[in-house]
Amino acid sequence: MIRLSHVSKSFTRGKERIDAVRDVSLEINDGEIFGVIGFSGAGKSTLVRCINLLERPTSGTVEVGGLELTALSPARLREVRRGMGMIFQHFNLMPSRTVLENVIFPLQYRKIPREQMEQKARGLLRRVDLEGRAAAYPSELSGGQKQRVAIARALATDPKILLCDEATSALDPTTTQEILALLRSLNADLGLTIVVITHEMAVVKSICSRVAVMEQGRLVEQGPVLKVFSSPREKVTRDFVGAASNLSKADLLAASGTLSLRPDERLVRFSYTGPGVSEPLISTITARYGLVMNILFADVELIGDSPIGGTVGILTGPTERVEGAFAYLRERNVRVEVLQECKS
Ligand SMILES: Nc1ncnc2c1ncn2[C@@H]1O[C@H](COP(=O)(O)OP(=O)(O)O)[C@@H](O)[C@H]1O
Ligand SMILES: [Mg+2]
Repeated sequence: MIRLSHVSKSFTRGKERIDAVRDVSLEINDGEIFGVIGFSGAGKSTLVRCINLLERPTSGTVEVGGLELTALSPARLREVRRGMGMIFQHFNLMPSRTVLENVIFPLQYRKIPREQMEQKARGLLRRVDLEGRAAAYPSELSGGQKQRVAIARALATDPKILLCDEATSALDPTTTQEILALLRSLNADLGLTIVVITHEMAVVKSICSRVAVMEQGRLVEQGPVLKVFSSPREKVTRDFVGAASNLSKADLLAASGTLSLRPDERLVRFSYTGPGVSEPLISTITARYGLVMNILFADVELIGDSPIGGTVGILTGPTERVEGAFAYLRERNVRVEVLQECKS
């Protein structure tokens, strides 16, 4: 549905050149919910604006639905763009127009009777559960309701693609989940292809099937959400995963130097994905290798339908048996880390 090939975009600010997007290649399938995650300034907004050519790439090509946008005439490009809706962090509604007028806005240049436009807009408001608010002004709505209006407006031209740039970043967690549920249902019911730009891992985990990670304009890692977050290759990805997990507290603990360990003790972190989580691994290794594990933190969460989890604790026992236990765990795809041990 969307294919970016070697897309780069640079800006000049005074004498300085800013490479906002560097050589990004990416394919997004029809009907997919695809996430792009990165910290602020990574180039996400610029990248998503290259998809609908709100920003023209400095180099590279953008294909949507088999059409090379970078090669189209302005008139043809305007037409193709109507097949892509976009929503933003701050909703971008017109404050002096009612909810209904906001939704009608993208339709008004079409040669359709007013009555038909209204009917269409009311249908869309029903779709986003805002039937009763057609006559309200944006200032009378909550953040979540404003984003629903923006979604209805984005859908007015019957797009095949919805681009979401930090669409939930201004919303509280509960409202975020409601908007994500709405996006998920639009994807399922209309077959809408959705591109989600975010700096929040929770958003990606909750609705995306695949994710790309951006850092300093580059796409550093991409793949299925479960795979990328369960075995991140890049440091930036690990930072996202770590920041979202209780298990990262162990790094702080190790760095704080407050933990004093005896010679046969070490601070360990075991992390695992998939079926292993339900197996009693800790009790198995302590019984089998005659060790003692004092558990400090444990955490299991779902990414998609797969559990990802881990345990942090102080493992006590002689080195030889501990090594045996580590080998046993590694054989079962458990990641083993010794975060601190007694140096003597
Ligand atoms: N129109 C512009 N002119 C100059 N620099 C820009 C422009 N748009 C974005 N940038 C710069 O490009 C980089 C990436 O920005 P952006 O795409 O907004 O990142 P993100 O959305 O990941 O926070 C930043 O350094 C930003 O300052
Ligand atoms: Mg941005």
